[in-house]
Amino acid sequence: MLRQDPPQGVGSGPGDVARTAEHLADDVREVLALRSVGRTFPGTPPVEALRDVDLVVRRGDYVSVVGPSGSGKSTLLHILGLLDRPTSGDYLLDGTPTRELSEADRSALRGGRIGFVFQSFHLLPHRSALDNVLLATLYSAVPRAERRTRALEALDRVGMSHRLDFLPPVLSGGERQRVAVARAVVATPRVLLADEPTGNLDSANSAGVLDLFDELHRDGLTLVVITHDDEVSVRARRRVRIADGTLREVS
Ligand SMILES: Nc1ncnc2c1ncn2[C@@H]1O[C@H](COP(=O)(O)OP(=O)(O)OP(=O)(O)O)[C@@H](O)[C@H]1O
Ligand SMILES: [Mg+2]
Repeated sequence: MLRQDPPQGVGSGPGDVARTAEHLADDVREVLALRSVGRTFPGTPPVEALRDVDLVVRRGDYVSVVGPSGSGKSTLLHILGLLDRPTSGDYLLDGTPTRELSEADRSALRGGRIGFVFQSFHLLPHRSALDNVLLATLYSAVPRAERRTRALEALDRVGMSHRLDFLPPVLSGGERQRVAVARAVVATPRVLLADEPTGNLDSANSAGVLDLFDELHRDGLTLVVITHDDEVSVRARRRVRIADGTLREVS
């Protein structure tokens, strides 16, 4: 099970009312917020990969970011995932301003709140499917005693229980990406960030991964999916377009 949110409006005592109000407030909270973010890479001339980007992603959003090659999509994802820092502006994750954080704090925040899915899967080739998922729990808040159960549940959820001991090189592309999705969600992140998650998959496997994203979204996960593929972007509830480092809301 990915996330167990308490049901809203249940119970009748004053404590319950307070809890419900708290939960509702939590629901509308901004999971990610970029405020006038710029990212310029030094060089002659410098590359302005992102310019004055404002973006708010709320809990439960499913956002796609579409744009041509070189438009700044991966740069954006790296900033959202705390893998890179803006050169101007602010980035708040779960309400926490990230600008002044140390690398150690950024790593801790990343490990506990963000799940990544990449185009080329990024699985460790010499570790089994189960180990790849288990390893993602090491730097998370998942208690040691629950790690194995959680990893098995995550793999079950993506339909990979029959391949636990397989090494990534012998899995099909679609299977690898499903293991990567299990790894991304095993520590119940606040948000799943995906960069061209179907870029290396055929249409049947792409559809499988997109169905999985739909399911995770229905269960309350917040998703940001970066793609240049319209088939992928139409699945999101909200579309954002990026061109030359500038973001524009489409729907
Ligand atoms: N480390 C870097 N140093 C210098 N320039 C960079 C660096 N990373 C990205 N860029 C430049 O920034 C721009 C945006 O790159 P980015 O990787 O974000 O594009 P993208 O939209 O993800 O493209 P693609 O669809 O091809 O993956 C490009 O012009 C790229 O050349
Ligand atoms: Mg890219």
